[in-house]
Amino acid sequence: MALLKSNKVFVSLGNITPSLGVLSARNSSWWGGVQMGPPDPILGVTEAFKKDSNPKKMNLGVGAYRDDQGKPFVLSCVRKAEALIAAKQLDKEYLPIGGLGDFTKACAQLALGADNEVLKSGRNITVQTISGTGSLRIGANFLSRFHGGPRDVYLPKPSWGNHTPIFRDAGMQLKAYRYYDPSTCGFDFKGALEDISKIPEQSVILLHACAHNPTGVDPRPEQWKEIADIVKKRNLLVFFDMAYQGFASGDIDRDAWAVRYFVEQGHNIVLSQSYAKNMGLYGERVGGFTVVCKDSEEAKRVESQLKILIRPIYSNPPMNGARIATTILNTPDLRALWLEEVHGMANRIIRMREQLAAGLKKNGSTHNWQHVTDQIGMFCFTGLKPEQVERITKEFSVYMTKDGRISMAGVSSGNVEYLAEAIHAVSK
Ligand SMILES: Cc1ncc(COP(=O)(O)O)c(C=O)c1O
Repeated sequence: MALLKSNKVFVSLGNITPSLGVLSARNSSWWGGVQMGPPDPILGVTEAFKKDSNPKKMNLGVGAYRDDQGKPFVLSCVRKAEALIAAKQLDKEYLPIGGLGDFTKACAQLALGADNEVLKSGRNITVQTISGTGSLRIGANFLSRFHGGPRDVYLPKPSWGNHTPIFRDAGMQLKAYRYYDPSTCGFDFKGALEDISKIPEQSVILLHACAHNPTGVDPRPEQWKEIADIVKKRNLLVFFDMAYQGFASGDIDRDAWAVRYFVEQGHNIVLSQSYAKNMGLYGERVGGFTVVCKDSEEAKRVESQLKILIRPIYSNPPMNGARIATTILNTPDLRALWLEEVHGMANRIIRMREQLAAGLKKNGSTHNWQHVTDQIGMFCFTGLKPEQVERITKEFSVYMTKDGRISMAGVSSGNVEYLAEAIHAVSK
Protein backbone atom coordinates (compact mmCIF):
# COMPACT_ATOMS: atom_id res chain seq x y z
CA MET A 1 0.00 0.00 0.00
CA ALA A 2 1.46 3.34 -1.05
CA LEU A 3 0.71 4.82 2.34
CA LEU A 4 2.96 2.36 4.09
CA LYS A 5 5.81 2.50 1.63
CA SER A 6 8.11 4.65 3.72
CA ASN A 7 9.60 3.54 7.02
CA LYS A 8 9.85 7.21 7.90
CA VAL A 9 6.12 7.16 8.55
CA PHE A 10 6.70 5.11 11.65
CA VAL A 11 9.82 7.05 12.68
CA SER A 12 8.08 10.38 12.50
CA LEU A 13 5.04 9.07 14.31
CA GLY A 14 7.13 7.60 17.13
CA ASN A 15 5.69 4.52 18.82
CA ILE A 16 2.10 5.45 18.42
CA THR A 17 0.33 3.15 16.01
CA PRO A 18 -2.07 5.48 14.28
CA SER A 19 -5.46 4.48 12.98
CA LEU A 20 -5.54 4.14 9.21
CA GLY A 21 -7.63 7.32 8.96
CA VAL A 22 -4.92 9.46 10.62
CA LEU A 23 -2.19 7.75 8.64
CA SER A 24 -3.86 8.44 5.32
CA ALA A 25 -4.59 12.06 6.22
CA ARG A 26 -0.92 12.59 7.06
CA ASN A 27 0.61 10.71 4.21
CA SER A 28 -1.65 10.84 1.24
CA SER A 29 -0.60 13.57 -1.14
CA TRP A 30 -2.65 16.22 -2.85
CA TRP A 31 0.23 16.95 -5.20
CA GLY A 32 1.27 13.54 -6.43
CA GLY A 33 0.48 14.56 -9.99
CA VAL A 34 2.65 17.69 -9.90
CA GLN A 35 5.65 17.18 -12.15
CA MET A 36 9.05 18.74 -11.57
CA GLY A 37 9.28 21.89 -13.69
CA PRO A 38 12.43 23.10 -15.45
CA PRO A 39 14.55 25.76 -13.68
CA ASP A 40 14.16 29.36 -14.85
CA PRO A 41 16.56 29.77 -17.81
CA ILE A 42 18.14 32.94 -16.39
CA LEU A 43 18.09 32.25 -12.66
CA GLY A 44 19.36 28.73 -13.46
CA VAL A 45 22.53 30.31 -14.89
CA THR A 46 23.15 32.07 -11.56
CA GLU A 47 22.73 28.79 -9.66
CA ALA A 48 25.39 27.12 -11.82
CA PHE A 49 27.65 30.18 -11.44
CA LYS A 50 27.45 30.04 -7.65
CA LYS A 51 28.69 26.45 -7.61
CA ASP A 52 31.78 27.25 -9.73
CA SER A 53 35.01 27.70 -7.73
CA ASN A 54 37.07 29.32 -10.54
CA PRO A 55 38.21 32.75 -9.22
CA LYS A 56 37.92 34.17 -12.73
CA LYS A 57 34.28 33.15 -13.14
CA MET A 58 31.87 35.69 -14.65
CA ASN A 59 28.08 35.78 -14.36
CA LEU A 60 26.75 37.48 -17.47
CA GLY A 61 23.33 35.86 -17.23
CA VAL A 62 21.28 38.12 -15.04
CA GLY A 63 20.32 41.63 -16.14
CA ALA A 64 21.27 43.66 -13.11
CA TYR A 65 23.71 46.55 -13.20
CA ARG A 66 27.09 46.17 -11.50
CA ASP A 67 29.71 48.85 -10.87
CA ASP A 68 33.24 48.61 -12.25
CA GLN A 69 34.21 46.48 -9.25
CA GLY A 70 31.46 44.04 -10.18
CA LYS A 71 29.37 45.00 -7.14
CA PRO A 72 25.59 45.74 -7.02
CA PHE A 73 25.12 49.48 -7.27
CA VAL A 74 22.74 51.58 -5.17
CA LEU A 75 22.36 55.01 -6.73
CA SER A 76 23.25 58.01 -4.52
CA CYS A 77 19.94 59.65 -5.45
CA VAL A 78 18.19 56.59 -4.00
CA ARG A 79 20.16 56.77 -0.73
CA LYS A 80 19.37 60.49 -0.46
CA ALA A 81 15.67 59.97 -1.21
CA GLU A 82 15.56 57.23 1.45
CA ALA A 83 17.06 59.62 4.00
CA LEU A 84 14.50 62.32 3.16
CA ILE A 85 11.65 59.82 3.45
CA ALA A 86 12.95 58.41 6.77
CA ALA A 87 13.18 61.93 8.21
CA LYS A 88 9.50 62.51 7.46
CA GLN A 89 8.39 59.61 9.71
CA LEU A 90 5.55 58.80 7.32
CA ASP A 91 2.82 56.32 8.16
CA LYS A 92 2.44 52.88 6.61
CA GLU A 93 -1.25 52.97 5.74
CA TYR A 94 -2.48 51.13 2.63
CA LEU A 95 -2.01 52.88 -0.67
CA PRO A 96 -5.05 53.24 -2.93
CA ILE A 97 -5.63 50.32 -5.35
CA GLY A 98 -4.00 52.24 -8.19
CA GLY A 99 -1.01 53.26 -6.07
CA LEU A 100 0.55 56.52 -4.93
CA GLY A 101 -1.04 59.41 -6.82
CA ASP A 102 2.12 61.53 -6.96
CA PHE A 103 4.00 58.56 -8.30
CA THR A 104 1.58 57.69 -11.09
CA LYS A 105 1.52 61.31 -12.22
CA ALA A 106 5.31 61.58 -12.30
CA CYS A 107 5.58 58.15 -13.92
CA ALA A 108 3.33 59.10 -16.85
CA GLN A 109 5.19 62.40 -17.24
CA LEU A 110 8.51 60.61 -17.37
CA ALA A 111 7.31 58.37 -20.18
CA LEU A 112 5.26 60.77 -22.26
CA GLY A 113 6.95 64.10 -21.44
CA ALA A 114 5.42 66.58 -18.98
CA ASP A 115 3.91 68.69 -21.78
CA ASN A 116 2.20 65.86 -23.55
CA GLU A 117 -1.32 66.65 -24.77
CA VAL A 118 -2.50 63.25 -23.46
CA LEU A 119 -1.66 64.25 -19.90
CA LYS A 120 -3.05 67.75 -20.28
CA SER A 121 -6.38 66.45 -21.49
CA GLY A 122 -6.47 63.71 -18.83
CA ARG A 123 -6.96 60.93 -21.35
CA ASN A 124 -4.50 58.56 -19.73
CA ILE A 125 -4.88 56.33 -16.75
CA THR A 126 -1.69 55.25 -15.00
CA VAL A 127 -1.61 52.79 -12.12
CA GLN A 128 1.34 51.82 -9.95
CA THR A 129 2.36 48.20 -10.48
CA ILE A 130 4.69 45.53 -9.11
CA SER A 131 7.59 46.64 -11.31
CA GLY A 132 7.63 45.91 -15.05
CA THR A 133 6.57 42.28 -14.77
CA GLY A 134 3.52 43.17 -12.69
CA SER A 135 2.69 45.93 -15.12
CA LEU A 136 2.85 43.60 -18.11
CA ARG A 137 0.67 41.08 -16.31
CA ILE A 138 -1.97 43.64 -15.31
CA GLY A 139 -1.88 44.84 -18.92
CA ALA A 140 -2.19 41.30 -20.25
CA ASN A 141 -5.13 40.60 -17.91
CA PHE A 142 -6.78 43.84 -18.96
CA LEU A 143 -6.43 42.93 -22.65
CA SER A 144 -7.68 39.45 -21.99
CA ARG A 145 -10.80 40.82 -20.31
CA PHE A 146 -11.58 43.85 -22.45
CA HIS A 147 -9.82 43.88 -25.80
CA GLY A 148 -12.47 43.29 -28.39
CA GLY A 149 -10.05 42.24 -31.16
CA PRO A 150 -8.29 38.91 -31.72
CA ARG A 151 -6.66 37.38 -28.64
CA ASP A 152 -3.31 37.33 -30.43
CA VAL A 153 -0.28 39.17 -29.11
CA TYR A 154 2.59 39.51 -31.58
CA LEU A 155 6.03 39.48 -29.95
CA PRO A 156 9.32 40.30 -31.64
CA LYS A 157 11.39 37.19 -32.36
CA PRO A 158 13.18 36.81 -30.00
CA SER A 159 11.72 38.65 -27.04
CA TRP A 160 12.31 38.78 -23.29
CA GLY A 161 11.72 35.21 -22.08
CA ASN A 162 9.03 36.19 -19.58
CA HIS A 163 6.74 37.85 -22.16
CA THR A 164 5.42 34.50 -23.36
CA PRO A 165 4.29 33.10 -19.99
CA ILE A 166 2.97 36.50 -18.88
CA PHE A 167 0.59 36.79 -21.83
CA ARG A 168 -0.11 33.06 -22.05
CA ASP A 169 -1.06 32.82 -18.37
CA ALA A 170 -3.40 35.77 -18.88
CA GLY A 171 -5.19 33.78 -21.59
CA MET A 172 -3.74 35.48 -24.67
CA GLN A 173 -2.28 33.66 -27.67
CA LEU A 174 1.31 34.26 -28.65
CA LYS A 175 2.44 34.97 -32.19
CA ALA A 176 5.70 36.42 -33.47
CA TYR A 177 7.07 38.86 -36.02
CA ARG A 178 10.62 38.81 -37.36
CA TYR A 179 12.95 41.17 -35.52
CA TYR A 180 16.54 39.95 -35.25
CA ASP A 181 18.70 39.03 -38.19
CA PRO A 182 21.38 36.51 -37.12
CA SER A 183 23.35 37.13 -40.31
CA THR A 184 24.02 40.79 -39.35
CA CYS A 185 23.42 40.51 -35.58
CA GLY A 186 21.18 43.53 -36.25
CA PHE A 187 17.56 44.54 -36.87
CA ASP A 188 15.68 42.64 -39.58
CA PHE A 189 13.81 45.75 -40.70
CA LYS A 190 12.52 44.26 -43.93
CA GLY A 191 11.36 41.06 -42.25
CA ALA A 192 9.68 43.01 -39.44
CA LEU A 193 7.78 45.23 -41.87
CA GLU A 194 6.72 42.26 -43.98
CA ASP A 195 5.43 40.36 -40.97
CA ILE A 196 3.74 43.33 -39.32
CA SER A 197 1.94 44.20 -42.54
CA LYS A 198 0.30 40.76 -42.42
CA ILE A 199 -0.87 40.86 -38.80
CA PRO A 200 -4.68 40.58 -38.64
CA GLU A 201 -6.35 43.91 -37.87
CA GLN A 202 -6.92 44.84 -34.24
CA SER A 203 -4.40 42.32 -32.93
CA VAL A 204 -1.96 43.38 -30.22
CA ILE A 205 1.68 44.07 -31.09
CA LEU A 206 4.31 44.26 -28.39
CA LEU A 207 7.18 46.68 -28.99
CA HIS A 208 10.25 47.15 -26.80
CA ALA A 209 10.52 50.93 -26.40
CA CYS A 210 14.33 50.90 -26.21
CA ALA A 211 17.26 48.62 -25.38
CA HIS A 212 15.54 45.54 -26.77
CA ASN A 213 16.04 42.50 -24.55
CA PRO A 214 17.67 40.10 -25.41
CA THR A 215 19.21 41.45 -28.63
CA GLY A 216 20.26 45.03 -27.78
CA VAL A 217 19.00 45.92 -31.27
CA ASP A 218 16.66 48.92 -31.61
CA PRO A 219 15.06 50.40 -34.73
CA ARG A 220 16.41 53.80 -35.76
CA PRO A 221 13.98 56.78 -35.64
CA GLU A 222 13.23 56.61 -39.38
CA GLN A 223 12.55 52.88 -39.04
CA TRP A 224 10.25 53.50 -36.07
CA LYS A 225 8.32 55.94 -38.26
CA GLU A 226 7.68 53.28 -40.88
CA ILE A 227 6.68 50.78 -38.21
CA ALA A 228 4.23 53.32 -36.75
CA ASP A 229 2.70 53.81 -40.22
CA ILE A 230 2.18 50.12 -40.88
CA VAL A 231 0.85 49.55 -37.39
CA LYS A 232 -1.68 52.32 -38.03
CA LYS A 233 -2.68 50.86 -41.40
CA ARG A 234 -3.25 47.47 -39.79
CA ASN A 235 -5.14 49.13 -36.91
CA LEU A 236 -3.08 47.25 -34.30
CA LEU A 237 -3.16 47.89 -30.58
CA VAL A 238 0.37 48.78 -29.47
CA PHE A 239 1.69 47.49 -26.18
CA PHE A 240 4.97 49.24 -25.38
CA ASP A 241 7.28 47.64 -22.85
CA MET A 242 9.67 50.28 -21.53
CA ALA A 243 11.87 48.56 -18.95
CA TYR A 244 15.05 50.51 -19.75
CA GLN A 245 14.20 54.21 -20.12
CA GLY A 246 17.52 56.05 -19.77
CA PHE A 247 19.51 52.87 -19.78
CA ALA A 248 19.94 52.68 -23.54
CA SER A 249 21.43 56.05 -24.39
CA GLY A 250 21.79 57.58 -20.93
CA ASP A 251 19.12 60.12 -21.90
CA ILE A 252 15.57 59.51 -20.63
CA ASP A 253 13.92 61.65 -23.32
CA ARG A 254 15.83 60.08 -26.17
CA ASP A 255 14.97 56.59 -24.94
CA ALA A 256 11.26 57.53 -24.77
CA TRP A 257 11.29 58.85 -28.33
CA ALA A 258 9.46 55.93 -29.95
CA VAL A 259 6.72 55.88 -27.31
CA ARG A 260 6.14 59.62 -27.67
CA TYR A 261 6.23 59.43 -31.47
CA PHE A 262 3.54 56.73 -31.58
CA VAL A 263 1.33 58.75 -29.22
CA GLU A 264 1.88 61.88 -31.30
CA GLN A 265 0.80 59.92 -34.37
CA GLY A 266 -2.51 59.13 -32.71
CA HIS A 267 -1.81 55.59 -31.44
CA ASN A 268 -3.73 55.02 -28.22
CA ILE A 269 -1.07 52.77 -26.74
CA VAL A 270 -0.80 50.80 -23.55
CA LEU A 271 2.53 51.05 -21.76
CA SER A 272 4.51 49.20 -19.11
CA GLN A 273 7.27 50.95 -17.19
CA SER A 274 9.84 49.64 -14.75
CA TYR A 275 12.17 51.44 -12.35
CA ALA A 276 14.22 48.32 -11.68
CA LYS A 277 17.07 49.18 -14.02
CA ASN A 278 17.06 52.95 -14.42
CA MET A 279 16.84 53.63 -10.68
CA GLY A 280 18.42 50.35 -9.57
CA LEU A 281 15.25 49.62 -7.57
CA TYR A 282 15.17 45.93 -8.58
CA GLY A 283 13.86 44.46 -5.35
CA GLU A 284 11.60 47.41 -4.50
CA ARG A 285 9.30 46.44 -7.39
CA VAL A 286 8.27 49.85 -8.73
CA GLY A 287 6.50 50.20 -12.05
CA GLY A 288 3.57 51.71 -13.86
CA PHE A 289 0.91 50.67 -16.32
CA THR A 290 -0.67 53.31 -18.56
CA VAL A 291 -3.59 53.15 -20.93
CA VAL A 292 -3.90 56.08 -23.34
CA CYS A 293 -7.60 56.54 -24.04
CA LYS A 294 -9.77 58.41 -26.54
CA ASP A 295 -10.80 60.98 -23.90
CA SER A 296 -10.96 61.52 -20.16
CA GLU A 297 -14.37 59.88 -19.87
CA GLU A 298 -13.01 56.67 -21.40
CA ALA A 299 -9.97 56.92 -19.09
CA LYS A 300 -12.27 57.00 -16.05
CA ARG A 301 -14.08 53.86 -17.19
CA VAL A 302 -10.78 52.09 -17.85
CA GLU A 303 -9.49 53.17 -14.44
CA SER A 304 -12.54 51.69 -12.71
CA GLN A 305 -11.93 48.34 -14.41
CA LEU A 306 -8.20 48.32 -13.69
CA LYS A 307 -9.03 48.74 -10.02
CA ILE A 308 -11.53 45.88 -10.17
CA LEU A 309 -8.83 43.76 -11.80
CA ILE A 310 -6.07 44.65 -9.32
CA ARG A 311 -8.08 44.42 -6.10
CA PRO A 312 -8.39 40.61 -5.98
CA ILE A 313 -4.79 40.04 -7.08
CA TYR A 314 -2.74 42.10 -4.59
CA SER A 315 -5.26 44.66 -3.32
CA ASN A 316 -2.86 47.60 -3.55
CA PRO A 317 0.83 48.02 -4.36
CA PRO A 318 3.75 48.42 -1.92
CA MET A 319 4.66 51.98 -0.99
CA ASN A 320 8.37 52.11 -0.20
CA GLY A 321 9.81 51.96 -3.71
CA ALA A 322 7.12 54.27 -5.07
CA ARG A 323 8.01 56.84 -2.41
CA ILE A 324 11.66 56.62 -3.37
CA ALA A 325 10.96 57.00 -7.10
CA THR A 326 8.52 59.87 -6.51
CA THR A 327 10.98 61.71 -4.28
CA ILE A 328 13.65 61.41 -6.95
CA LEU A 329 11.37 62.46 -9.80
CA ASN A 330 9.82 65.40 -7.92
CA THR A 331 12.85 66.84 -6.08
CA PRO A 332 14.85 68.92 -8.58
CA ASP A 333 18.29 68.26 -7.01
CA LEU A 334 17.68 64.53 -6.78
CA ARG A 335 16.25 64.36 -10.26
CA ALA A 336 19.36 66.09 -11.63
CA LEU A 337 21.58 63.67 -9.69
CA TRP A 338 19.55 60.72 -10.99
CA LEU A 339 19.92 61.84 -14.60
CA GLU A 340 23.68 62.06 -14.07
CA GLU A 341 23.78 58.61 -12.53
CA VAL A 342 21.67 57.04 -15.30
CA HIS A 343 24.05 58.59 -17.75
CA GLY A 344 26.99 57.17 -15.79
CA MET A 345 25.54 53.64 -15.85
CA ALA A 346 24.74 53.76 -19.57
CA ASN A 347 28.19 55.16 -20.35
CA ARG A 348 30.01 52.51 -18.36
CA ILE A 349 28.18 49.87 -20.39
CA ILE A 350 29.02 51.62 -23.66
CA ARG A 351 32.72 51.74 -22.58
CA MET A 352 32.66 48.02 -21.84
CA ARG A 353 31.24 47.35 -25.30
CA GLU A 354 34.10 49.32 -26.86
CA GLN A 355 36.72 47.58 -24.74
CA LEU A 356 35.27 44.16 -25.51
CA ALA A 357 35.29 44.82 -29.26
CA ALA A 358 38.87 46.19 -29.03
CA GLY A 359 39.94 43.16 -26.93
CA LEU A 360 38.58 40.74 -29.53
CA LYS A 361 40.51 42.51 -32.23
CA LYS A 362 43.66 42.54 -30.09
CA ASN A 363 43.35 38.79 -29.62
CA GLY A 364 43.40 38.42 -33.39
CA SER A 365 39.73 37.69 -33.98
CA THR A 366 38.87 38.09 -37.63
CA HIS A 367 35.09 38.11 -37.13
CA ASN A 368 33.12 41.30 -37.53
CA TRP A 369 32.26 42.39 -33.98
CA GLN A 370 30.65 45.66 -35.01
CA HIS A 371 27.36 44.54 -33.42
CA VAL A 372 28.99 44.55 -29.97
CA THR A 373 29.24 48.35 -30.14
CA ASP A 374 26.17 48.90 -32.34
CA GLN A 375 23.81 47.13 -29.96
CA ILE A 376 22.48 49.18 -27.10
CA GLY A 377 21.44 48.82 -23.47
CA MET A 378 22.23 46.18 -20.93
CA PHE A 379 22.47 43.20 -23.25
CA CYS A 380 24.69 42.10 -26.07
CA PHE A 381 23.58 39.29 -28.33
CA THR A 382 27.05 37.97 -29.08
CA GLY A 383 26.08 35.62 -31.89
CA LEU A 384 27.79 32.71 -30.07
CA LYS A 385 26.18 29.38 -30.94
CA PRO A 386 24.84 27.07 -28.19
CA GLU A 387 27.90 24.78 -28.46
CA GLN A 388 30.23 27.79 -28.12
CA VAL A 389 28.24 28.96 -25.08
CA GLU A 390 28.67 25.52 -23.58
CA ARG A 391 32.43 25.64 -24.19
CA ILE A 392 32.94 29.16 -22.81
CA THR A 393 31.13 28.13 -19.63
CA LYS A 394 32.98 24.84 -19.26
CA GLU A 395 36.46 26.05 -20.17
CA PHE A 396 36.39 29.67 -18.96
CA SER A 397 33.62 29.76 -16.32
CA VAL A 398 31.86 32.50 -18.26
CA TYR A 399 28.13 32.08 -17.63
CA MET A 400 25.48 33.35 -20.04
CA THR A 401 22.09 32.29 -21.39
CA LYS A 402 22.11 29.58 -24.07
CA ASP A 403 21.12 32.05 -26.78
CA GLY A 404 24.53 33.77 -26.45
CA ARG A 405 23.17 36.83 -24.67
CA ILE A 406 25.53 38.51 -22.23
CA SER A 407 24.69 41.20 -19.72
CA MET A 408 27.23 43.96 -20.41
CA ALA A 409 26.50 45.23 -16.90
CA GLY A 410 28.43 42.23 -15.55
CA VAL A 411 31.57 43.21 -17.49
CA SER A 412 34.15 45.46 -15.81
CA SER A 413 37.57 46.90 -16.65
CA GLY A 414 39.00 44.09 -14.48
CA ASN A 415 37.50 41.23 -16.50
CA VAL A 416 36.81 42.57 -20.00
CA GLU A 417 40.14 41.29 -21.34
CA TYR A 418 39.51 37.84 -19.94
CA LEU A 419 36.09 37.85 -21.58
CA ALA A 420 37.58 38.89 -24.94
CA GLU A 421 40.14 36.06 -24.72
CA ALA A 422 37.42 33.57 -23.84
CA ILE A 423 35.08 34.62 -26.66
CA HIS A 424 37.93 34.56 -29.14
CA ALA A 425 39.03 31.10 -27.98
CA VAL A 426 35.60 29.57 -28.56
CA SER A 427 34.79 31.45 -31.77
CA LYS A 428 38.04 31.29 -33.77
C1 LIG B 1 12.01 43.65 -21.65
C2 LIG B 1 11.73 43.60 -20.20
N1 LIG B 1 10.51 43.90 -19.76
C3 LIG B 1 10.20 43.88 -18.47
C4 LIG B 1 11.12 43.53 -17.52
C5 LIG B 1 10.64 43.54 -16.12
O1 LIG B 1 11.50 43.69 -15.10
P1 LIG B 1 11.02 44.00 -13.63
O2 LIG B 1 9.81 43.18 -13.35
O3 LIG B 1 12.19 43.63 -12.81
O4 LIG B 1 10.72 45.46 -13.61
C6 LIG B 1 12.43 43.20 -17.92
C7 LIG B 1 13.45 42.77 -16.97
O5 LIG B 1 14.45 42.16 -17.23
C8 LIG B 1 12.73 43.24 -19.30
O6 LIG B 1 13.94 42.96 -19.75
